[in-house]
Amino acid sequence: MKTVKIGLLGLGNIGTGTYKTLEMNRDEIESSLGVKLEIVKILERDTERDRGITVPMEKFTSDPDSIFTDPDIDIVIELLGGIEPATSFMLKAMENGKHVVTANKAAIAANYQALMDTAAANGVLLRFEASVGGGIPILTSLTGPLKANKFEEVMGILNGTTNYILTMMTQEGLDYETALRDAQAQGFAEADPTADVEGIDAANKLSILMALMFDKYVAPGDIPTIGITKVTKDEIEKARQDNCRIKLIAHAKKLDNGDVEYAVKPMYIDENHPLAGINREFNAVFVKGNAVDELMFYGKGAGPLPTGSAVMGDVMDIVRTALK
Ligand code: HSE
Repeated sequence: MKTVKIGLLGLGNIGTGTYKTLEMNRDEIESSLGVKLEIVKILERDTERDRGITVPMEKFTSDPDSIFTDPDIDIVIELLGGIEPATSFMLKAMENGKHVVTANKAAIAANYQALMDTAAANGVLLRFEASVGGGIPILTSLTGPLKANKFEEVMGILNGTTNYILTMMTQEGLDYETALRDAQAQGFAEADPTADVEGIDAANKLSILMALMFDKYVAPGDIPTIGITKVTKDEIEKARQDNCRIKLIAHAKKLDNGDVEYAVKPMYIDENHPLAGINREFNAVFVKGNAVDELMFYGKGAGPLPTGSAVMGDVMDIVRTALK
């Protein structure tokens, strides 16, 4: 059986979740593809951390170029997070003929066109399903089975950390700091959770959704964004008395004149609305298309294994499309 070789950039929470997903389901993945998959090199400085997996020491490297220039590597998985050096690494990998899979919403949203153009110019595939909604296959659905639609609206709970914090403050009476620490401990939060709690992470994801749904690129910094840091326990209680829940909502809507309006902000959601029942690290994306009408996607939007599932799904898609 042919072996497809993979270079992995980053063995943090998501890198570990991806590695575990492959190890856990290797037999099913490989027999479905009819090829073997091997992660041959891992760019990671911390070789000592106990990740609950066994990684042969010889796979670790501290030299990214040794991955980009390795003629045997077919696919590079970028799971470093952050805009740089992740963007430069992805560009370099594609310029060297590697297909790229990433979960990095910050890098994709910041450099959407450059990354897409580089993939096209080099005849390689760039896949980023895991960048929006963690394990939810939202991007593949929008660009595949739903592509026959003109999209009218998207409304989503797109950040697991903030949804976890709001849920814990609402249901368990936890204070903000304790709930945030919990979310960090479970691997939901970004390395710097400011991006989560200030709504920046949700804005990155909304930027990607708008590019794919409305063919309209809006830089995340140009999306009006309010996070959850100023949401108080009193406001949460007041919402509950009004039969509502406070949720951090990312919203974009196509107007009759063709413009798109968009924002990320905490909103009161009626307790009977489907988005009000989305709790903990779960995400939900409500989409309206002119043919399909209303759809809602629901699943774990953060966490190592749900995100690893989406990353490996992209890897498998690349193997099927380009490497068999
Ligand atoms: N920090 C992100 C979240 C991870 O909490 O949703 C998934 O993108």
